[in-house]
Amino acid sequence: MCGIVGYVGPRPSQDILLAGLARLEYRGYDSAGIAVIGESGSLGMRKKAGKLQMLRDSLADAALPDGTTGIGHTRWATHGGPTDANAHPHLADDDKLALIHNGIIENFAPLRAELEAEGVTFRSETDTEVAAALVGREYRRTGDLTEAFRAVVNRLEGAFTLLAVHQDQPGLVVAARRNSPLVIGLGDGENFLGSDVAAFVEHTRRALAIGQDEIVAITPSAVTVTDFAGNPVTSEPFEVSWDADAADKGGWPSFMAKEVAEQPEAVANTIRGRIKDGAVVIPELDGLDDLFRGIDRVIITACGTASFAGMVGKYALEQWARVPVDVELAHEFRYRDPVIGAHTLVVSISQSGETMDTLMAVKYARERGARTLSICNTQGATIPRESDAVVYTHAGPEVAVASTKAFVAQITALLLLGLHMGRVRGSHTDGSGAVAELEALPAKISRVLAEEEARVAQLAGWMADTRSVLFLGRHVGYPIALEGALKLKEISYIHAEGFAAGELKHGPIALIEPGQPVFVLVPSPRHSALLHAKVVSNIQEIRARGARVIVIAEEGDAAVLPFADEVIRIPLAEAMFEPILAVVPLQIFAMALATAKGLDVDQPRNLAKSVTVE
Ligand code: F6R
Repeated sequence: MCGIVGYVGPRPSQDILLAGLARLEYRGYDSAGIAVIGESGSLGMRKKAGKLQMLRDSLADAALPDGTTGIGHTRWATHGGPTDANAHPHLADDDKLALIHNGIIENFAPLRAELEAEGVTFRSETDTEVAAALVGREYRRTGDLTEAFRAVVNRLEGAFTLLAVHQDQPGLVVAARRNSPLVIGLGDGENFLGSDVAAFVEHTRRALAIGQDEIVAITPSAVTVTDFAGNPVTSEPFEVSWDADAADKGGWPSFMAKEVAEQPEAVANTIRGRIKDGAVVIPELDGLDDLFRGIDRVIITACGTASFAGMVGKYALEQWARVPVDVELAHEFRYRDPVIGAHTLVVSISQSGETMDTLMAVKYARERGARTLSICNTQGATIPRESDAVVYTHAGPEVAVASTKAFVAQITALLLLGLHMGRVRGSHTDGSGAVAELEALPAKISRVLAEEEARVAQLAGWMADTRSVLFLGRHVGYPIALEGALKLKEISYIHAEGFAAGELKHGPIALIEPGQPVFVLVPSPRHSALLHAKVVSNIQEIRARGARVIVIAEEGDAAVLPFADEVIRIPLAEAMFEPILAVVPLQIFAMALATAKGLDVDQPRNLAKSVTVE
């Protein structure tokens, strides 16, 4: 939600800012803007509603004097619609100061009233302009941007990353963060700020994470971090493992297409280094066995796609670690009074590591004394920093708004975690072949892509005018049905719903009318002949009512043939590993259908990749 970039150094800043914003555009794409302190020492600013290209076009029409200090912003609107006026940066102190913001300032209304009473007039409807005016007022009093920030940040409630420049202090960008992301990129004679490392990874891979309630001042030669009271803070730089090319489209028609194709690698990278002598051993969890012993309950918390990965994880953790597991949407979890404490392990799952709902659930769990572990794809992100332990997924940067490779990597990490916990708790030893199943996954995903992609895409093309699609699954197929429906909704804007197949007769079957497309995920008969038979019966029930049935079933399952209009095959795998294969055709289907409708699959309407507001 909103991407932020800052630069100070010897180079002209505009191109660096625009390239950084392009890499962060997935965070929001309602409007974009930059402010630079020009060579003459004056501040230039340009902002435009619409995608980043609108800003680029405007700069091409009328250039802004360039300078070597600047900030840039790409917006996902919260307060005020996506207009030029509401776009960031916002100016203050007689237009000598420019400020950008990610987050929501909850007490902006009384602060705005206070400023209006002093005669300040506002040009936008945003909470951000209020922060800009406050910093401007304090700058006039102190003559120093860092001091001005210090005077303002404690008055702000809510979530914010703020970045500002002032034309009277060229060569300086000041930032503050509370509950919103911000990372420093450490260059050679230049420094960067970004919502995440993608903003600067093409320039430097040395980064420094910033903690909660900290203020940062960067100049070309120095980085100073303090807490809100001004006390110095030190932290260790880390090396970014993503390379710059990983966040480029690299000839693919969309980031989503590239990321779907990268799934074998995402799963292989997530497994790498975590299998030793035929058993799962997660090095990050070395010495942390106590996290898993003496617990009587696990709660998995996450949002959206990540929560569906969590639902698959429930089956794995219960089977291998023999502990009861509940899956809770993060935004519901902390608004009731859950029974948690020192014997509860709360596992959070987040690709971005910044989802505000999930972050707040983790904080809440910690306050209640629970143990916390996060599964995360982004180094230096807030959620792992707020957790007792972290298991990173190594899917690489995911740029398309619709999650694909991060999802399969999250399930992989949960399978690893289940096997690790099972070993630590003595409830599972790997005689079951689970490790071999894990290691075989990347090649099996490649087979699904190679053998089914073209046909599924063709099917989607034929169905471009479809108004509604249903998805049915049972056991670990149920979360995949939910994920198939979510993928379709978010990028093709078609009504889609996922159901537990057994639930059909309790209501949803009323939706079936002649021609209604229904995807059915059929579990392997080798795992449970009974469950398989039940799903085949469900297929017959909907077929009898005229549904158009598209079956996803393992190779060789002939029982489905008489009742299916289309059969998509996945390689044989044990039950727990099937979801990673079965989701792939559904991702391809959603992507191909959205493409057939002429939609932008990477940046669907109204959405942003990283949801940093509650
Ligand atoms: C859907 C999707 C979202 C995210 C959700 C959580 O394709 O990507 O549903 O899964 O917003 O995001 P993270 O994993 O970053 O916490």
